[in-house]
Amino acid sequence: MPLFIVENDITKMTCDAIVNAANSSLLGGGGVDGAIHRAAGPKLLAECRGLHGCKTGDAKITGGYDLPSRYVIHTVGPVWNGGSYGEEELLRSCYSRSLALALEYGCETVAFPLISTGVYGYPKREGFRVAREEITSFLEEHDMTVYIVIFGAGAFDIDPDLRSDISSLLSGRSSAYGSSPKPGSSGLFRGLRSLKRSVDESAASVSMEEEVCEAVCDKVSAREMRECAASAAAAMPMTGASSDMADLKERLSMLDESFSQMLLRKIDELGMTDVECYKKANLDRKHFSKIRSDRNYRPKKMTVLALGVAMKLPKSELTELLMKAGYALSDSDPTDVIIGYFISKGNYNVYDINEALFAFDRPMLGA
Ligand code: APR
Repeated sequence: MPLFIVENDITKMTCDAIVNAANSSLLGGGGVDGAIHRAAGPKLLAECRGLHGCKTGDAKITGGYDLPSRYVIHTVGPVWNGGSYGEEELLRSCYSRSLALALEYGCETVAFPLISTGVYGYPKREGFRVAREEITSFLEEHDMTVYIVIFGAGAFDIDPDLRSDISSLLSGRSSAYGSSPKPGSSGLFRGLRSLKRSVDESAASVSMEEEVCEAVCDKVSAREMRECAASAAAAMPMTGASSDMADLKERLSMLDESFSQMLLRKIDELGMTDVECYKKANLDRKHFSKIRSDRNYRPKKMTVLALGVAMKLPKSELTELLMKAGYALSDSDPTDVIIGYFISKGNYNVYDINEALFAFDRPMLGA
């Protein structure tokens, strides 16, 4: 299920539960603790008094009162003392105990601040890494939508080298995908062109193939394309090209395939389960079941990109999947450039990609 990074004031988040970075007294304080108590009103403090505090690394739950969220999960992070006093284990426990409580209370959406990275001094990038690791391993086993709430500039950033790589790509507008895709250069049209070359060498007359290839490359309708290719197949001498033609026929027969049919076929071909696919795409189960059950589902481009990342599709197949849904990759779209950068590096980790998209203020993959 999805994990998103959002820039917000956690007291404004409308979730089933928000998590408070409290202190062991649970009687309020500064930072996010103070903000939550101010927004929730005095009844929150009254309930907290009855909890008799909380140990570091543990979590306790109360009502949300005047907050838009139903619950507040109070957890006490470790004070950073250099990292050799079990701080990381305690911080991991804050996230895992809070998630366990959210699950126990039937929460479908939960928002976390970056626990301990303020007054308690935990290094921000390390604190984020722990949060992401604990939340994503929980989400491998459970269906919940989780938000990591970043408060104010400087609370989060990606690796400086990664930032400069992507910035130079975005400014230079050089292709992140290698050669930028020419119109009609999807796998199918390339297949036709290479077929034309092999037929040229072996067949006497190529006029029909030229018609087929020109027609296809001029993007006639799928039906006309099939008819063209079918008559080309009939006219073509049975030479070494026959296996290519079988490939062409098979590929052309997929032209009628809808986006969701192509998706499900690729998932099967890759030996993936649906659950693996939608989790690696940072999609929620309901969204995926809509795609699976509707042959004519019209996905958003970000959904197609997320699924392409989940299936680790190379550029050519990602282009085909996008085309099937009516989209194209673009070297002038910063989101496509950033995703292309990760694909060119062979990094299909949707959370790595989303961190970079967030850092560059772009929409994230998944939903
Ligand atoms: N919404 C979201 N995040 C916030 C908000 C807010 N309104 N206010 C602060 N933050 C962020 C901070 O920027 C930081 O990234 O929450 C993270 C945790 O910072 P702190 O609130 O200082 O919490 P922590 O570092 O865990 O220290 C806890 O501070 O407020 C006291 O009573 C609290 O003693 C406890 C200690």
